Amino acid sequence: MLLDSSVLRSQLLLAFLVASTSFAPARAQELTSDQLDQVKARLAEGATHSWEIGTRAQALIESDTPSWSVLNSSSLPPSHSAPSSLDEVVSIAQAVVKNRTGSDVSGPQPLMDVSGGAAGDPPSIGVAVLLANWTGAGSRDGLDYAGAAQEQLEFLLTSVPKTSDGAISHRTEEVALWSDFVYMVPPFLAYYGVLTQNQTLLQLAYDQCRLYRQYLIDDDAGGMWRHIVQGSTPDSGHWTTGNGWAAGGMLRVLGTIQHSQYAKKMKNQANDLRGWVAEIHDGIYPHLQTTGLFTNYADDGSTFDDASGTAILASTVYRLALLEGVHTHLPAAEKSRSVLFASASASSSSSSSSSSSRSSASSRSQSSSTSTSTAPASTATTPSTLAHFTADGWLTPVVDPYSFGREGSHSPEGQAFVVEMHAAWADWVQAGSPGANAAAATMRGGVGAIVFVQAVLVWVLFVL
Ligand SMILES: *[C@@H]1O[C@H](CO)[C@@H](O)[C@H](O)[C@H]1NC(C)=O
Ligand SMILES: *[C@@H]1O[C@H](CO)[C@@H](O)[C@H](O)[C@H]1NC(C)=O
Ligand SMILES: *[C@@H]1O[C@H](CO)[C@@H](O)[C@H](O)[C@H]1NC(C)=O
Ligand SMILES: *[C@@H]1O[C@H](CO)[C@@H](O)[C@H](O)[C@H]1NC(C)=O
Repeated sequence: MLLDSSVLRSQLLLAFLVASTSFAPARAQELTSDQLDQVKARLAEGATHSWEIGTRAQALIESDTPSWSVLNSSSLPPSHSAPSSLDEVVSIAQAVVKNRTGSDVSGPQPLMDVSGGAAGDPPSIGVAVLLANWTGAGSRDGLDYAGAAQEQLEFLLTSVPKTSDGAISHRTEEVALWSDFVYMVPPFLAYYGVLTQNQTLLQLAYDQCRLYRQYLIDDDAGGMWRHIVQGSTPDSGHWTTGNGWAAGGMLRVLGTIQHSQYAKKMKNQANDLRGWVAEIHDGIYPHLQTTGLFTNYADDGSTFDDASGTAILASTVYRLALLEGVHTHLPAAEKSRSVLFASASASSSSSSSSSSSRSSASSRSQSSSTSTSTAPASTATTPSTLAHFTADGWLTPVVDPYSFGREGSHSPEGQAFVVEMHAAWADWVQAGSPGANAAAATMRGGVGAIVFVQAVLVWVLFVL
């Protein structure tokens, strides 16, 4: 060899070092349990509208008592004795039913006032009310939870306008179909059906999903759903949060069917629901920006970034992976999650966050009903250092939950989506991160090739 071997050696050594350092795996970002408590505390303060109260209850079930969530593999109906981690969910139902009792009205009526017009929103609290009944809260506080749930059901079935083929309107004053409805109503109908052994209600839950999909799907947009059809305020845009509401609601109906006594009889319905969730993911994920966030309307880059819709969609990707083994969009969900939970200063993120956040995932199931009351106040002593949260724990940037075309500052539903995304991810990690390897297969192949090249380089160094 005519080459000076010492030059060659130093060049090879340099190549070796470059190859070794540039493939250190990126560290996934996680919330500490303090940060999660702070997010929940803001959620508790902010949730005042019916759908926010209902979504908060669902997020707390998934986060604090995972085995009682319909998304868990535990079979339904659940036990009649509630673990203390459900106390907060039961107290949400209690506040709503107590308030309602004051009205002295009987007969079909919503769980909360719908003078704002959204018939579809109060049923979102229905699952918490059904759980309160099921676990005997009424015998302790004297409230009629079963009656409240039943009157809410009857109101939906008899007092809310419908399309000619039976889709129940999201609004009371006119027929208007909003994607939001799919998260608020069908999961309540399905859970009601399981607890009262009424398969007709599970079928109705499925049918509402089927009809809403039929009206809202946009085949010209790859299967994303429009936000609102019919009524006085149609919105044919592909609202990111709306696609998340639809996917999340259909997953809860799917989970309810699958873990119930009707799982065998309703296999076809479950298959459809799985396909419809995957269809939304396949339609919307191609629009995820390289930043890991969706814009408020997923295929309209002129709209602002929305961390809230991004979070609910990511949660549904983990859930579909756990329920159905669909792993297609896991890398995208992981990207969104790690971006949303990234530290404000990327360099300070590494060593300190991993141990504390691991403990947050494992202590999650023990985290009790006191989590909100013990959460740090707005003036937290440990200020948040997360890039996508304010110092007191509000997710940002977010769509205004009361004006879906505008950017807002505080979103209670966005806080709930963060809790749901964290819970879904934690369950997924607990299950061994199924699909993470498949998703990373190409990357792993790449790493393997690099290790081989490094071995050859080392061998060459010695030979020379
Ligand atoms: C189901 O609940 C258990 C117990 O709370 C939890 O450890 C597990 O991760 C959950 N599994 C799924 C698939 O959600
Ligand atoms: C209680 O009822 C009033 C009047 O209907 C309503 O404005 C308020 O939002 C309700 N609060 C809860 C927690 O249900
Ligand atoms: C309320 O709970 C009881 C038993 O705990 C159950 O038999 C009944 O079906 C429940 N009612 C509703 C509407 O879920
Ligand atoms: C199932 O629920 C529907 C709606 O409330 C009701 O009309 C029907 O009678 C119920 N069926 C049974 C078997 O209870």
